[in-house]
Amino acid sequence: MQLLVSDQPFLILGGELGNSSASHTPYLQPVWPKLKQMHLNTVIAPVYWELIEAEEGKFNFNLVDDLIRDARKNQMKLVLLWFGAWKNSMSCYAPAWVKTDTKRFPRAEDRKGKKQEILSPFSKANLEADQQAFAALMRHLKQTDGHEHTVIMIQVENEIGMLPEAKTYDAAANTAFKQDVPAKLFTYLQENKNSLLPDIKRIWKEGGYKTHGSWEEVFGKSLATDEIFMAWYYARFIDELTLAGKKAYNLPMYVNAALNAPGKKPGDYPSAGPLPHVMDIWKAAAPSVDILAPDFYNPDFRHWSDLYTRASDPLFIPEIRFEAGVDAKAFFAFGNYNCLSFSPFSIESTDQPEKEPIGKAYAILHQLIPLITQYGPAGQVKGFMLDKDSASTTLVLGNYKLHISHDYKLGWSPESKKDSWPLTGGLVVATEPGEFYVSGTGLVITFESLEQDKRAGFLSIDEGKFENRQWLPGRRMNGDQDHQGRHVRIPVNDYGIQHVKMYSY
Ligand code: DGJ
Repeated sequence: MQLLVSDQPFLILGGELGNSSASHTPYLQPVWPKLKQMHLNTVIAPVYWELIEAEEGKFNFNLVDDLIRDARKNQMKLVLLWFGAWKNSMSCYAPAWVKTDTKRFPRAEDRKGKKQEILSPFSKANLEADQQAFAALMRHLKQTDGHEHTVIMIQVENEIGMLPEAKTYDAAANTAFKQDVPAKLFTYLQENKNSLLPDIKRIWKEGGYKTHGSWEEVFGKSLATDEIFMAWYYARFIDELTLAGKKAYNLPMYVNAALNAPGKKPGDYPSAGPLPHVMDIWKAAAPSVDILAPDFYNPDFRHWSDLYTRASDPLFIPEIRFEAGVDAKAFFAFGNYNCLSFSPFSIESTDQPEKEPIGKAYAILHQLIPLITQYGPAGQVKGFMLDKDSASTTLVLGNYKLHISHDYKLGWSPESKKDSWPLTGGLVVATEPGEFYVSGTGLVITFESLEQDKRAGFLSIDEGKFENRQWLPGRRMNGDQDHQGRHVRIPVNDYGIQHVKMYSY
């Protein structure tokens, strides 16, 4: 899957605004220059149901219009977040006329019947109210932006997830829970039996691969079943909502998930969102959603990225914690996965945009978008991440094996004696046999020839930059810069691209 913008493959070098930042246009004015300094090509920004439809049926899109105007002025694209029925499980962005009418707009309930500030996904009225507003937004975008395409994607809701229990016990939910599992889910399970992800496959197998029966008859009586049931109905709601939006204006749409902390039970974490263990349910119930996306606040970046890409799905990151090492993760993500979006959260919170490592990484990645999107699908782009515990790795590109190490492995910097090393990373593009573009930060690479009885040598290493897809070489990196022909190096705190030509002898 590729994201096309103006018919060209596009990678989102993004940043997501803090939740309340787009609710007041003047607040954002000093933010735009910061985003530019960090070389963002896309801003991910919320649209708030409570503010666009404060009165039922009366819409005000001033904030959206301002966002589009200012994004254009700053030559940036927008991804809009629909903060509609749910935002981080809760329904805090529902307008007052929805919040105050719990009879018309039913709530999720715990098993004791206590209402939550969470709209029930089992209510048609809830769906219709959300659809009306969402479709109105999409219609407005089509009218005002259908030509220029400043808005390139939409996130439907934000981090949907059931709390404080694995499912809701409102009356409509209780009725649905006793009914048979919908035939549509069985069709999906049967058609995809051989490619189901292990989590759903296991639980379906344990029940004997049944093809009819209630949720508990098919999947057993457990919290896992409660979560599957909720995932189905959340995703059905989202499918209907997405369809209503796309009918008004057909933009690509995705949903995001708050990753569950390992070891916690459904209900202890926001359950039933588009999480790895229920991805199959989401795909079966919400085929109109284009991508299921993780928000990264958990430590193990590689682990969760692997989970989201198991079924050859792209990696789409709408949010990642804005912290040290995020630059290395960006290189790794675009190099190692079919990553379409990278976007630190609360991007405007920095006071030193010109010094932000993510800005330096984006300046490089921006130049490499044509190469990554051209050579990635053929496996000619590879990424890596390094720290003190995993200080070396290898990868094979064409006839060469690359031995990649953290810059501090050289031991040349006094910093290398410290207990912890900064996370570094990079990506390599193999464009021609024996020709590579190495980019990133804090890395050292030696090359091994895979031709029998041959050794690898450097013909040339040039640092440089791409301008309008044209490579403009700068310094010839020989002598001390390549350790007299031994390695390619980009030191810690440096960011660059080097064009490497190899030969075997
Ligand atoms: C994840 C949410 O999706 C964001 O909107 C925001 O609430 C962050 N968490 C805060 O860390």
